Amino acid sequence: MTALLKRSETTVNVALGDRAYDIVIGRDVLVSLGARIASLRPGVRTAIVTDKTVARHWLEATEASLAAAGIATSRIVVDEGEASKTYAGLEKVSEALIAAKIERNDLVVALGGGVVGDLAGFAAAILRRGVDFVQVPTSLLAQVDSSVGGKTGINSPQGKNLVGAFHQPVLVIADTAVLDTLAPRQFRAGYAEVAKYGALGDEAFFSWLEANHGEVFKGGAAREHAIATSCRAKAAIVARDERETGDRALLNLGHTFGHALEAATGFSDRLFHGEGVAVGMVLAAEFSASLGMISQRDAARVARHLAEVGLPTKLEDIAGFVQEGLADADALMTLMAQDKKVRRGKLTFILLEAVGRAVIAKDVVPARVRDFLQDKLRV
Ligand SMILES: NC(=O)c1ccc[n+]([C@@H]2O[C@H](COP(=O)([O-])OP(=O)(O)OC[C@H]3O[C@@H](n4cnc5c(N)ncnc54)[C@H](O)[C@@H]3O)[C@@H](O)[C@H]2O)c1
Ligand SMILES: [Zn+2]
Repeated sequence: MTALLKRSETTVNVALGDRAYDIVIGRDVLVSLGARIASLRPGVRTAIVTDKTVARHWLEATEASLAAAGIATSRIVVDEGEASKTYAGLEKVSEALIAAKIERNDLVVALGGGVVGDLAGFAAAILRRGVDFVQVPTSLLAQVDSSVGGKTGINSPQGKNLVGAFHQPVLVIADTAVLDTLAPRQFRAGYAEVAKYGALGDEAFFSWLEANHGEVFKGGAAREHAIATSCRAKAAIVARDERETGDRALLNLGHTFGHALEAATGFSDRLFHGEGVAVGMVLAAEFSASLGMISQRDAARVARHLAEVGLPTKLEDIAGFVQEGLADADALMTLMAQDKKVRRGKLTFILLEAVGRAVIAKDVVPARVRDFLQDKLRV
């Protein structure tokens, strides 16, 4: 079957002036990593940062591509999961990079999901006051979201992503075949971010996903198209607002509710980030409908598509959430207030006016959100 798939690739440019870079998306593009790095930085030395699971599947192929282009490399393998995105993880990676003699003009290669990308990217940002890095995202979430846009960092014991830097990669290689080894639940969670781009700014893409999601899950040309469209959407927003002083906040659609749900479930396997975003997007749509901003029909359309691919869309879909009373409306409000800027008693939310049209609402009255959540928790 694979042999029958036509080899193709799509390149999306992130237009950031002298820090502009390409995202190369396609089946088997990982093979070209070495040659691309060699032409971008002749004579460079590299270190690959990855996690144990990704290493098992993709480290050899990555090293082979670098070796074929005559690029010296060393490997730094961390434990998988959020536990590596810590001060201890950063120390381990930084010391290993120094030991590997990665110097100012060398390159760090982040091979993995969002955890590895954020950790390796931040280590690169601060090593010798900054060395360049290449993202080789291996989860769907990383390919459509975390590898693009230059946010890097680690978690503090006091909260997620609280320590970090903006540091753009010099190249992103998103091989769609690499996703074939990703656990189906992880793929689905990443898909929530893909649907998010349609919901927030591209109705035609949302409709395309409604018709073609089966093919996106299978792989092939539809998967490449979905990833490329997502990257193009993110790249356009990042190019307009790299440091999130305005429009970039639109990318947080579903994230205010989602983060609160993730926190309430202890950032555990009960709810992956993308799953929280799926429930969060539906809550954002329904809340928008309760304010009369979007039709009930459009809000239901968002929920229907996410449910169709098997994502959770209601609080009851989260294991034990309602049954065990993991959080009441007040607890969720407290978690959201921590996550978001509260200005003069008002909350900022990304709300929907239509499928494909999100807006930044800076003056949401907390009591309305609380009442809405209270209602949702009443099963
Ligand atoms: N920087 C940003 O802009 C940004 C945006 C969104 C999310 N994030 C961060 O990304 C992280 C989540 O990323 P994630 O969902 O990719 O998590 P992750 O990196 O933990 O990957 C999820 C799991 O999938 C495994 N995996 C990854 N690729 C695989 C493959 N090809 N085959 C088999 N297994 C594979 C990993 O080992 C891990 O166990 C969070 O820390 C979040 O804060 C950052
Ligand atoms: Zn997200």
